[in-house]
Amino acid sequence: MAKSLRVKYVCSNCDTPSTSWAGRCKTCEQWNTLVEQVEVNTATAGGSGSILKTSNVTTASKNTLPRIITGLVEADNVLGGGIVPGSVNLLAGQPGIGKSTLLLQIAYNIAKNYKVLYVSGEESPQQVALRAERLGAEHKDLQLAASGVTNDIASTISAGNYAAVIVDSVQSIALNEISSAAGSVAQITNSTQLLTAAAKSSGTALLLVGHVTKEGSIAGPKVLEHIVDVVLQLEGDRYGGFKILRALKNRYGATTEAGIFEMTNKGMQAVDNPSAALLAERYITDGSIVTATMEGSRALLVEVQALVNPTSYGYPKRTASGIDLNRVNLLIAMLERRTKLKLADKDIYLNIVGGIRLTEPAADLAICMAIASAAKGMQLNKNAVVIGEVGLSGEIRHVPYLDKRIAEAHKLGFKVVVGPFMRSGRKPSTLTSVSNIKDALNNFLK
Ligand code: TYD
Ligand code: MG
Repeated sequence: MAKSLRVKYVCSNCDTPSTSWAGRCKTCEQWNTLVEQVEVNTATAGGSGSILKTSNVTTASKNTLPRIITGLVEADNVLGGGIVPGSVNLLAGQPGIGKSTLLLQIAYNIAKNYKVLYVSGEESPQQVALRAERLGAEHKDLQLAASGVTNDIASTISAGNYAAVIVDSVQSIALNEISSAAGSVAQITNSTQLLTAAAKSSGTALLLVGHVTKEGSIAGPKVLEHIVDVVLQLEGDRYGGFKILRALKNRYGATTEAGIFEMTNKGMQAVDNPSAALLAERYITDGSIVTATMEGSRALLVEVQALVNPTSYGYPKRTASGIDLNRVNLLIAMLERRTKLKLADKDIYLNIVGGIRLTEPAADLAICMAIASAAKGMQLNKNAVVIGEVGLSGEIRHVPYLDKRIAEAHKLGFKVVVGPFMRSGRKPSTLTSVSNIKDALNNFLK
C-alpha cells in the first residue's frame, strides 16, 4: 500500500482534473463542483506497459478459492452460494433494520472456519462485544477493532491475515488525505476504492455496511454501487415484521433470490414458513384480501387490507403503506370508471400486513377487491387467494409464476384461487378464472 496518496481535484460537472482546489471550475465555470479524489493504483497510460498475462477461460476459474459459507442458508442463497474470496459486498438498509446484527452473526459463522475481523467505525469494541455476547457469537477467531481511518483498515486488509473483513459502515470511515468529513461523496468513493484495491490484492472478502437515505437509496454516490461486486439490501419495517434480504446486484450469482428474516432476541433468524406467519393473526372482515406475491423465487401469501371512509374534508385522502401510492391511485381511477363504485368522496387507506412491500402488478386484483370489499362492507364469498394484474380497461391479466402462487395457496389450505385465465398448460382445479374486474366484484363479493 502506498504510504502517502496523491490527491487531485476533479470537477463533478465536466470531469476536468486540477491540482488545487478552487471555488469555481476553470473549464465549465460552475461553482463548488471540485471534488477531492485520491489516485489509487494509477497506471501510466499509453504504450509503456508490459503485455498482459492471459489465462484460458477453461482453466482460469479452476484456480479460484471456494466460496466462504455464511452459515445462514437464506443469506447464502441470496449471495449465490456464499461469499466469494476477494469480493466486495455492500449491505445497505435503514438504520435499526439489523445490518450490524446480521453481519456479526455471519462473522461468527465464518470464524468457525476462517479468521475474521469486524471493524466498527460507529461502535466501540466493547459495544460490539456486548452484542456478540448477547447473540452467543463469541469465537477466538473473530477479532474486533474500532477505527474510522480508511488508511489503517486498508493496510490491515492488505496484510492478508483475515479471510473476511467487515467494515461497519462505509459512511463512518475517512481517508487521512481527504479533508472532507466522513460520509461525504469524496470520502465514500475514495475509501471504498482503496478498500476494494486492498481486498482484491490480498484475496480478502470484504463486507461493507452502507446507510440509505430517507428515500431508501444507498447514501453516497451511485459509483459506490458500481465499484462493489455485490449489493445486498435489507428491507422491511424496523419496528418488527419481516426483514427481506435481496441482492440488487451480484457479479457471482442471480439476483432473483430473497431471504426472509425476523429480528428475535437471538438476532436475525430465518423464517421457516413466512406465509403461515403472515396470515397467523388474520381477522377476516371486509377489506381483507389475501394475495400471493413472489419474493425472489418463492411465493408468499400476504394480506392486503383496505379501509374506505367518507371524506370529512373537501379533498379525499389516499394513503398506502407497503405499496406504491401511484399504483393505488391508478387502480382507484380504473375502479370508478369500470365499475359502479363511487370513490370520489371517500378516503381510502391501504396496508400490506407484516412490513411486506408489494412491488408487482400481480397484486392489482387483490387491491381492487380489498377496496371494493371495504367500500361495500362485503367479504369474499369463498376463502380465496386473489391474484392478477388489472389493466385500465378493467381486464384481468396474466401474471408470472401462476403455478407457484397457486401451489403456495394450496399449501396454506386455501381451496380457491381467483385469478386470470391460464395462458397455456393444464388449468389447476383450484383456479377460478375471471376476465374482468366487474365480474370479479359481482361474482366473489357477498
Ligand atoms: P442493528 O443491527 O444495530 O441495526 P443496524 O446496524 O441496521 O442499524 O439492530 C437493530 C435493532 O435490532 C436494534 O434496535 C435492537 C434489535 N435487536 C434485537 O431485537 N435482538 C438482538 O439480538 C439484537 C442484537 C438487536
Ligand atoms: Mg449498525
